[in-house]
Amino acid sequence: MRPTLCGIAGLIALLSTSALAAPGDPTIEPGGRWSARSGAAASMPAMGWSSWNAFRTEITEDKVLGSADALIRTGLAARGYRYINIDDGWWLRRRARDGRLEVRTQIFPSAVAARGGDTSLRPLVDRLHGMGLKAGIYTDIGRNACSQAYDLHSPNLPVGTTREREVGLYGHVDQDIALFFREWQFDYVKVDACGMADFAADRGYVTERSYAPMTPAIVRGNPARSDAGRIRGLYEDVADAIRRYRPDGDAILSICVWGQADVRRWGKDVGTSWRTGEDITPDWSSMLQSFDAAAGRALYAHPGSWNDPDMLFVGTGDFDAHHLVEARSHFSLWAIINAPLLIGYDLRKAPQSLLDIWGNRDVIAINQDPAGNQGVIAYRSGDLQIIVKTLADGRKAVAVFNRTNAALAATLTADHLKMLADRPVTLTDLWDRTGSRVFTGDTDVKLAPHETRLFVANGTHVLANGVYLSEMPGIVNVAVDGVRQPELDPTIYRGVSPWAGSRSDGERPMYTGWGGAQPDSAPYGTALSVGGRVFAAGIGILSGSRMEVKTQGRFKRFSALVGVDDSTRNRTALVRFEIYGDGRLLARTKPLSFAAPAQPLTADIGHAKIVELVVRPTDAAAAPVAVSWGMAALEASTD
Ligand code: GLA
Repeated sequence: MRPTLCGIAGLIALLSTSALAAPGDPTIEPGGRWSARSGAAASMPAMGWSSWNAFRTEITEDKVLGSADALIRTGLAARGYRYINIDDGWWLRRRARDGRLEVRTQIFPSAVAARGGDTSLRPLVDRLHGMGLKAGIYTDIGRNACSQAYDLHSPNLPVGTTREREVGLYGHVDQDIALFFREWQFDYVKVDACGMADFAADRGYVTERSYAPMTPAIVRGNPARSDAGRIRGLYEDVADAIRRYRPDGDAILSICVWGQADVRRWGKDVGTSWRTGEDITPDWSSMLQSFDAAAGRALYAHPGSWNDPDMLFVGTGDFDAHHLVEARSHFSLWAIINAPLLIGYDLRKAPQSLLDIWGNRDVIAINQDPAGNQGVIAYRSGDLQIIVKTLADGRKAVAVFNRTNAALAATLTADHLKMLADRPVTLTDLWDRTGSRVFTGDTDVKLAPHETRLFVANGTHVLANGVYLSEMPGIVNVAVDGVRQPELDPTIYRGVSPWAGSRSDGERPMYTGWGGAQPDSAPYGTALSVGGRVFAAGIGILSGSRMEVKTQGRFKRFSALVGVDDSTRNRTALVRFEIYGDGRLLARTKPLSFAAPAQPLTADIGHAKIVELVVRPTDAAAAPVAVSWGMAALEASTD
């Protein structure tokens, strides 16, 4: 566990209703535009290789180039893996005289300075570009990097005086981003955050190594004492600098705040991807934890910005070549929730059995499907999950996931797929290509311990001429989710910490994001239910919220059955539901109360490019109310 302080975040959040919104805060007032970040470089989740899970800080140019060569030689590059990312360990020091970062040329010999000149990673980047690949680099948002706190025996820690060892971006954003993107021509930067979390004055290594103490702005597992607004602001500065030095937009900003500082909510507005949880280790329980931290956040990801459950550990530990069932599970799960696919293995020695996993074209195609809909959990339990992802061509990918170490028999139903139960559904298995099967109503799926069966399903959708909004998270941006006080999410699997063991009193909830917008669930995880009427589809969210839906003229009508959800904590406040098309009010309800029956609410949305769904409390100061956009659906335009 990585501990820490501070926190006006809660106060800022308290002011987030429209009437009280502070300047710059997201507002529930419709803007008639898509406000989340969208970038050319990440219209699909990034694919590539990263040095960290394979080598930690013990990287060398040979290892990086060897893996790049292997990516090409094995055909993986041709399947879409193109980023080669150098993680922690590349730096030597920050030069005292002008603050320029120096490369550790002992391990990156091509960076050696010509006489009297500067060290440079440009030759390596040029070489990678020459191979048809893209290049990624690593830094930290604080003064110091994670290895300076957690890899104290590494041979590749920065050297020199206190100032020279401050290799992170803090106070150097413009200078370093210009170096990475303009001078060295990198395409991708991962920005870690240990510098803002782990360098408090009371840490032994801070004194022993004479680092300058930094009052932590991230206190792990403690949102009230973390300053989410400050952390977000620091990352916004980085995003702005990247826009300055890479104006073509072909750059990736990977935010690495491990699910802390409310990043699971704001990451989509600032970066291309954001880590939703702690570091993955090559253990089954760690994989579950990483998966859960991202899998419950489908509505917060869409083309241009993706939840990041961390890099792949396929090939190592519980996912090695002797555990191919587990390795395929891990890869299938990352694919269906649109996670970045970053291989973390020494590819120079990869056996064919692993190459076949990373290289499975059909599974990659699920991850890279252009609609960008993250898979939605259609069946949930501690043992078994069914995750369904709507593909651009209307078919569905479905993962049936056995989390336990015993064999299980699952029943997959047409209802899980939102397909008609009296029409045939064809299932094609993406790992076992021995053929497809057809079922009507439901079918049994046998699962070995830890197995994930991954299929593409083709059948008749329940909605003949349209979609439920919850089938299309890729066109939804939760601009404001109504959460005022970030809360820890209790639903994420918590195994024994691989770092601390059981030396503590246990693993507590860690990551903020509880109470956010949910597909086919109320915001706190119960079934959508208004006045006792349960809805199998819809979106659950809090009042004081606004969602933007990228309809782009493809739909003519929006309809839903709306009301206060039976799960609400606040049973007295009243709320109105409003629908806007390109910023214009199209329809709204009267104020609705707890226990009132669901109200039909429909609007002709014509050719609107953006539809906005607002839930407005009649009293802006009242505590949020859980609400349902039950059966929320878009009817397709016929013209
Ligand atoms: C943190 C990150 C990891 C890795 C290391 C490098 O722990 O979460 O992904 O980058 O730092 O030190």
